[in-house]
Amino acid sequence: MTVSLHRLDPTGVDRADLVEFMTRNVFPFHVRPRLTAEDVERAIADGAYRDEDHDSFWLEHDVLGRIGFLRLEDLSDDAPLFDLRLDPPARGRGLGAEAVRAATDLVFGTMPDVHRFEGQTREDNVAMRRTFLRCGWLKEAHYREGWPVAGGQPVASVAYAILRRDWETGTTTPFVWEDLTA
Ligand SMILES: CC(C)(COP(=O)(O)OP(=O)(O)OC[C@H]1O[C@@H](n2cnc3c(N)ncnc32)[C@H](O)[C@@H]1OP(=O)(O)O)[C@@H](O)C(=O)NCCC(=O)NCCS
Repeated sequence: MTVSLHRLDPTGVDRADLVEFMTRNVFPFHVRPRLTAEDVERAIADGAYRDEDHDSFWLEHDVLGRIGFLRLEDLSDDAPLFDLRLDPPARGRGLGAEAVRAATDLVFGTMPDVHRFEGQTREDNVAMRRTFLRCGWLKEAHYREGWPVAGGQPVASVAYAILRRDWETGTTTPFVWEDLTA
């Protein structure tokens, strides 16, 4: 594994770097592609980077150094989600899959009550969707017109998940998508 997670301190030593990372980069497939320093400062104050539901990490590559950010969400639900943001120079090299595997190891390896780990992205984020598949995650929902797009038509929101037992065995458990007939 060349990508590892390093827990960051959003209100302390990592605050300035976090604001800089979030405002320097554009995230075209997020609901808010561009964030201002005020947005990030407010989110830090609201606990959106660390509280009982959230925890945040730098993604470190053993050769490239810091390559991005990953946040766990809904941690009090026993079925957390993640938000993954690679720095633009680190995109397009398959490192997203390494980050997802590292996050999955962290979640199932340190949170014994968690049986599902979830992720959601918009339908046209092909790189993220292929990353899920490459990591053995299963598509579980396709919410048509579920993702608002500023100044445009909504796109679908697509949900993926991995089960603890799939992580343990390396085998994705399928299900029958249309299990009833009309
Ligand atoms: C989305 C993200 C995590 C993907 O990670 P990545 O390492 O950059 O992914 P890659 O560009 O290597 O693409 C992964 C796969 O999708 C394929 N792919 C990428 N863009 C594609 C496209 N437009 N059409 C078809 N295939 C595409 C790649 O060829 C690769 O295929 P492979 O698994 O067969 O090698 C990363 O690009 C990123 O952080 N983007 C900005 C933030 C974001 O969108 N985060 C997701 C929200 S949760």
